[in-house]
Amino acid sequence: MTLLEPVPPSDLVARIDHLKRRRHAVILAHNYQTAEVQDIADIVGDSLALAQQAARIRDAEAIVLCGVRFMAETAKLVNPSRTVLMPDENAGCPMANMITPRQLADARQRHPQAAVVCYVNSSAAVKAASDICCTSSNAVRVVASIPDDRPVLFVPDQSLGDFVARRLHRDLILWPGYCPTHHRILPEHIDARRREHPGAVVLVHPECTEEVRRLADFVGSTAQIIDHVLHSAEQTFIVGTEMGICHTLARRAPQKTIVHVTPLADCPNMKLTTLEKILWCLDEMQTPVEVPDDVADGARRAIQRMLDLS
Ligand code: 13P
Ligand code: SF4
Repeated sequence: MTLLEPVPPSDLVARIDHLKRRRHAVILAHNYQTAEVQDIADIVGDSLALAQQAARIRDAEAIVLCGVRFMAETAKLVNPSRTVLMPDENAGCPMANMITPRQLADARQRHPQAAVVCYVNSSAAVKAASDICCTSSNAVRVVASIPDDRPVLFVPDQSLGDFVARRLHRDLILWPGYCPTHHRILPEHIDARRREHPGAVVLVHPECTEEVRRLADFVGSTAQIIDHVLHSAEQTFIVGTEMGICHTLARRAPQKTIVHVTPLADCPNMKLTTLEKILWCLDEMQTPVEVPDDVADGARRAIQRMLDLS
């Protein structure tokens, strides 16, 4: 038996670069991707930035989306004439699967006056059945754009919805979905890191539970956490979100000390994308993401309303 040597990472990077040019492709990666994936990406950002950047792409034929399915679907919806590829088509978001279009239709019947605000961490079909999308960067602004006297049904993330409700002092109807990765972050993790790093600034994502958010100095999306670190005069930050962001921060703010809250905050879906799969994806042009015609227009409308407000 002959066991082939694995391709060394430096060869993988060179081959990805070569194929990327041949395929006229651009690589977009979320802040939660692994260090090596972030390092070969053309653009690294939060969900909102990836949607905005994908919409602007004109001079590339293919977009390789290193993230999870809803991000690739969003890129396809905002730029339908490009081929959008997922290096691993199994990279889904468990929270997005916590609501189906039928469940949303039932909830709408129970709350016929409500505007439905849908976190982008959702399927295209659920977006199509919603009035407007939001990301964690703009959720407060999106909900604030809805007249005060209109009820709001916020799906599917109860934690982000609760964060928005508290910010706006507004009673929202919350869907009981949640992010399993962020809900693994517990108050005792924050307390332990604070004891190890007295005086450090605690930054957490709004997908965290209220018990965790209450302990933080700042709550924001991944892009807002990065901006906070970049513009703060402080030196040491305890970061309560998925661990991939620590690489983004180390790259963008190398002079700052970044302490991750707990190794439990590791999203297995985000880690499905590897350099090998990106190479394969560019080589085989697999796997293209398609959004069914019967939901594409409605989903695009809900995303576009959000982009118009951002
Ligand atoms: P952003 O804060 O980057 O929008 O990310 C949230 C998230 O969980 C993406 O999966
Ligand atoms: Fe979904 Fe949470 Fe993973 Fe983001 S971190 S993709 S919300 S499971």
